[in-house]
Amino acid sequence: MKFFVDTADVAEIKDLAASGLLDGVTTNPSLIMKSGRPMLEVIKEICAIVPGPVSAETVATDHKMMLAEGRKLAKIAKNVAVKVPLTPDGLKTCKALREEGTKVNVTLCFSAAQAILAAKSGASFISPFIGRLDDVGTDGMRLIADIVQIYDAYPEFETEVLVASIRHPMHVVDAAKLGADIATIPPAIVRQMYNHPLTDKGLAAFLADWAKTGQSIL
Ligand code: E4P
Repeated sequence: MKFFVDTADVAEIKDLAASGLLDGVTTNPSLIMKSGRPMLEVIKEICAIVPGPVSAETVATDHKMMLAEGRKLAKIAKNVAVKVPLTPDGLKTCKALREEGTKVNVTLCFSAAQAILAAKSGASFISPFIGRLDDVGTDGMRLIADIVQIYDAYPEFETEVLVASIRHPMHVVDAAKLGADIATIPPAIVRQMYNHPLTDKGLAAFLADWAKTGQSIL
Protein backbone atom coordinates (compact mmCIF):
# COMPACT_ATOMS: atom_id res chain seq x y z
CA MET A 1 0.00 0.00 0.00
CA LYS A 2 1.27 3.46 -0.89
CA PHE A 3 1.03 6.31 1.62
CA PHE A 4 0.15 9.82 0.51
CA VAL A 5 -0.18 12.64 3.02
CA ASP A 6 -3.28 14.81 2.88
CA THR A 7 -1.95 18.30 3.63
CA ALA A 8 -0.48 21.47 2.12
CA ASP A 9 1.69 22.07 5.18
CA VAL A 10 5.26 21.98 3.87
CA ALA A 11 6.85 21.50 7.31
CA GLU A 12 4.71 18.41 7.96
CA ILE A 13 5.52 17.05 4.48
CA LYS A 14 9.29 17.53 5.02
CA ASP A 15 9.07 15.76 8.38
CA LEU A 16 7.20 12.75 6.98
CA ALA A 17 9.37 12.56 3.87
CA ALA A 18 12.42 12.25 6.16
CA SER A 19 11.05 8.99 7.59
CA GLY A 20 10.62 7.53 4.09
CA LEU A 21 6.89 7.19 4.56
CA LEU A 22 5.71 9.35 1.70
CA ASP A 23 4.82 8.10 -1.76
CA GLY A 24 2.83 11.21 -2.68
CA VAL A 25 0.76 14.16 -1.46
CA THR A 26 -2.84 15.26 -1.89
CA THR A 27 -4.10 18.81 -1.46
CA ASN A 28 -7.48 20.44 -1.98
CA PRO A 29 -8.74 24.04 -1.91
CA SER A 30 -9.56 23.80 1.83
CA LEU A 31 -6.05 22.56 2.64
CA ILE A 32 -4.50 25.37 0.53
CA MET A 33 -6.69 27.87 2.42
CA LYS A 34 -5.47 26.38 5.71
CA SER A 35 -1.82 26.73 4.63
CA GLY A 36 -2.40 30.48 4.09
CA ARG A 37 -0.02 30.38 1.09
CA PRO A 38 -0.36 30.98 -2.69
CA MET A 39 -1.36 27.68 -4.29
CA LEU A 40 1.07 27.64 -7.22
CA GLU A 41 4.01 28.43 -4.92
CA VAL A 42 3.11 25.79 -2.34
CA ILE A 43 2.51 23.05 -4.95
CA LYS A 44 5.89 23.81 -6.56
CA GLU A 45 7.61 23.53 -3.18
CA ILE A 46 5.86 20.23 -2.34
CA CYS A 47 6.74 18.75 -5.77
CA ALA A 48 10.41 19.44 -5.07
CA ILE A 49 10.26 17.59 -1.73
CA VAL A 50 8.24 14.52 -2.75
CA PRO A 51 9.07 12.78 -6.05
CA GLY A 52 5.72 10.92 -6.17
CA PRO A 53 2.41 12.34 -7.41
CA VAL A 54 1.28 15.64 -5.84
CA SER A 55 -2.42 16.32 -6.36
CA ALA A 56 -3.35 19.92 -7.15
CA GLU A 57 -7.07 20.62 -7.50
CA THR A 58 -8.83 22.64 -10.19
CA VAL A 59 -11.61 25.00 -9.05
CA ALA A 60 -13.43 25.81 -12.31
CA THR A 61 -16.67 23.91 -12.83
CA ASP A 62 -16.89 24.09 -16.65
CA HIS A 63 -14.75 21.87 -18.88
CA LYS A 64 -13.00 24.63 -20.83
CA MET A 65 -11.82 26.56 -17.77
CA MET A 66 -11.06 23.37 -15.84
CA LEU A 67 -8.85 22.14 -18.68
CA ALA A 68 -7.02 25.49 -18.79
CA GLU A 69 -6.47 25.32 -15.02
CA GLY A 70 -5.37 21.68 -15.24
CA ARG A 71 -2.84 22.49 -17.96
CA LYS A 72 -1.45 25.36 -15.88
CA LEU A 73 -1.16 23.16 -12.78
CA ALA A 74 0.46 20.34 -14.78
CA LYS A 75 3.18 22.77 -15.92
CA ILE A 76 4.31 23.39 -12.32
CA ALA A 77 6.24 20.09 -12.16
CA LYS A 78 6.36 16.67 -13.79
CA ASN A 79 4.89 14.99 -10.69
CA VAL A 80 1.70 17.10 -10.48
CA ALA A 81 -1.49 15.05 -10.64
CA VAL A 82 -4.39 17.32 -11.56
CA LYS A 83 -7.44 16.84 -9.37
CA VAL A 84 -10.88 17.22 -10.94
CA PRO A 85 -14.32 16.71 -9.40
CA LEU A 86 -16.51 13.74 -10.27
CA THR A 87 -18.86 15.68 -12.56
CA PRO A 88 -19.51 15.40 -16.32
CA ASP A 89 -17.18 18.37 -16.94
CA GLY A 90 -14.62 16.89 -14.56
CA LEU A 91 -14.52 13.59 -16.43
CA LYS A 92 -14.30 15.33 -19.81
CA THR A 93 -11.33 17.21 -18.45
CA CYS A 94 -9.90 13.98 -17.05
CA LYS A 95 -9.97 12.35 -20.49
CA ALA A 96 -8.38 15.37 -22.20
CA LEU A 97 -5.59 15.68 -19.63
CA ARG A 98 -4.87 11.95 -19.70
CA GLU A 99 -4.49 12.14 -23.50
CA GLU A 100 -1.86 14.84 -22.92
CA GLY A 101 0.01 12.53 -20.54
CA THR A 102 -1.00 14.28 -17.31
CA LYS A 103 -1.90 12.19 -14.27
CA VAL A 104 -5.46 12.88 -13.03
CA ASN A 105 -6.99 12.31 -9.60
CA VAL A 106 -10.80 12.24 -9.76
CA THR A 107 -12.05 13.50 -6.42
CA LEU A 108 -15.29 13.69 -4.42
CA CYS A 109 -16.29 10.10 -5.19
CA PHE A 110 -19.14 8.78 -3.03
CA SER A 111 -20.45 5.77 -5.01
CA ALA A 112 -19.26 2.72 -6.93
CA ALA A 113 -21.17 3.95 -9.99
CA GLN A 114 -19.11 7.16 -9.94
CA ALA A 115 -15.90 5.13 -9.59
CA ILE A 116 -16.78 3.12 -12.71
CA LEU A 117 -17.26 6.35 -14.68
CA ALA A 118 -13.88 7.67 -13.51
CA ALA A 119 -12.09 4.47 -14.54
CA LYS A 120 -13.79 4.59 -17.96
CA SER A 121 -12.50 8.17 -18.38
CA GLY A 122 -8.94 6.97 -17.77
CA ALA A 123 -8.45 8.46 -14.28
CA SER A 124 -5.06 7.69 -12.74
CA PHE A 125 -6.59 7.81 -9.25
CA ILE A 126 -10.11 7.66 -7.83
CA SER A 127 -10.61 9.33 -4.45
CA PRO A 128 -13.55 7.87 -2.47
CA PHE A 129 -14.14 9.99 0.67
CA ILE A 130 -14.82 7.39 3.35
CA GLY A 131 -14.90 9.64 6.45
CA ARG A 132 -17.53 11.90 4.92
CA LEU A 133 -19.68 8.84 4.12
CA ASP A 134 -19.29 7.56 7.70
CA ASP A 135 -20.34 11.05 8.88
CA VAL A 136 -23.73 10.66 7.18
CA GLY A 137 -24.32 7.15 8.50
CA THR A 138 -23.13 5.24 5.41
CA ASP A 139 -20.34 2.64 5.57
CA GLY A 140 -17.40 4.32 3.80
CA MET A 141 -15.28 1.17 3.91
CA ARG A 142 -18.03 -0.79 2.09
CA LEU A 143 -17.49 1.60 -0.83
CA ILE A 144 -13.77 0.78 -0.87
CA ALA A 145 -14.56 -2.95 -0.91
CA ASP A 146 -16.97 -2.44 -3.83
CA ILE A 147 -14.55 -0.36 -5.90
CA VAL A 148 -11.62 -2.74 -5.30
CA GLN A 149 -13.82 -5.69 -6.33
CA ILE A 150 -15.06 -3.94 -9.49
CA TYR A 151 -11.64 -2.67 -10.60
CA ASP A 152 -10.09 -6.12 -9.96
CA ALA A 153 -12.67 -7.67 -12.30
CA TYR A 154 -11.58 -5.44 -15.19
CA PRO A 155 -7.83 -5.48 -15.83
CA GLU A 156 -8.30 -2.76 -18.47
CA PHE A 157 -9.14 -0.32 -15.64
CA GLU A 158 -5.80 1.20 -14.68
CA THR A 159 -7.21 3.55 -12.06
CA GLU A 160 -5.69 3.26 -8.58
CA VAL A 161 -7.96 3.36 -5.53
CA LEU A 162 -6.83 6.30 -3.39
CA VAL A 163 -8.70 6.10 -0.08
CA ALA A 164 -9.46 9.67 1.07
CA SER A 165 -11.13 11.41 3.99
CA ILE A 166 -9.37 9.11 6.47
CA ARG A 167 -10.25 9.88 10.08
CA HIS A 168 -8.39 7.28 12.20
CA PRO A 169 -5.72 4.54 11.97
CA MET A 170 -8.30 1.73 11.57
CA HIS A 171 -9.46 3.33 8.33
CA VAL A 172 -5.90 2.77 7.03
CA VAL A 173 -5.73 -0.81 8.34
CA ASP A 174 -9.14 -1.78 6.94
CA ALA A 175 -8.37 -0.19 3.56
CA ALA A 176 -5.06 -2.10 3.46
CA LYS A 177 -6.88 -5.37 4.24
CA LEU A 178 -9.15 -4.72 1.27
CA GLY A 179 -6.15 -4.21 -1.02
CA ALA A 180 -6.71 -0.50 -1.73
CA ASP A 181 -3.72 0.89 -3.64
CA ILE A 182 -3.18 4.10 -1.70
CA ALA A 183 -4.28 5.81 1.52
CA THR A 184 -4.03 9.58 1.75
CA ILE A 185 -3.61 10.28 5.43
CA PRO A 186 -3.67 13.53 7.43
CA PRO A 187 -0.34 14.02 9.30
CA ALA A 188 -2.02 13.75 12.72
CA ILE A 189 -3.31 10.29 11.84
CA VAL A 190 0.11 9.13 10.61
CA ARG A 191 1.39 10.10 14.07
CA GLN A 192 -1.46 8.17 15.74
CA MET A 193 -0.45 5.07 13.77
CA TYR A 194 2.83 4.92 15.73
CA ASN A 195 1.03 4.76 19.06
CA HIS A 196 0.82 1.66 21.21
CA PRO A 197 0.95 1.70 25.03
CA LEU A 198 3.01 -1.52 25.06
CA THR A 199 5.65 0.17 22.88
CA ASP A 200 5.89 3.05 25.38
CA LYS A 201 5.90 0.68 28.35
CA GLY A 202 8.49 -1.63 26.80
CA LEU A 203 10.79 1.22 25.85
CA ALA A 204 10.60 2.71 29.35
CA ALA A 205 11.53 -0.67 30.87
CA PHE A 206 14.47 -1.19 28.50
CA LEU A 207 15.80 2.30 29.18
CA ALA A 208 15.46 1.85 32.96
CA ASP A 209 17.40 -1.46 32.80
CA TRP A 210 20.01 0.08 30.50
CA ALA A 211 20.57 2.93 32.96
CA LYS A 212 21.27 0.32 35.66
CA THR A 213 24.11 -1.17 33.57
CA GLY A 214 25.99 2.15 33.66
CA GLN A 215 27.05 1.57 30.05
CA SER A 216 26.92 3.85 27.02
CA ILE A 217 26.97 2.85 23.35
CA LEU A 218 28.75 5.98 22.09
C1 E4P B 1 -8.48 13.90 -0.49
O1 E4P B 1 -7.89 14.07 -1.51
C2 E4P B 1 -9.16 14.97 0.25
O2 E4P B 1 -8.33 16.09 0.21
C3 E4P B 1 -9.37 14.65 1.71
O3 E4P B 1 -9.00 13.32 2.01
C4 E4P B 1 -10.70 15.06 2.24
O4 E4P B 1 -10.75 14.73 3.60
P1 E4P B 1 -11.80 15.39 4.63
O5 E4P B 1 -13.11 14.73 4.43
O6 E4P B 1 -11.22 15.09 5.97
O7 E4P B 1 -11.82 16.86 4.32
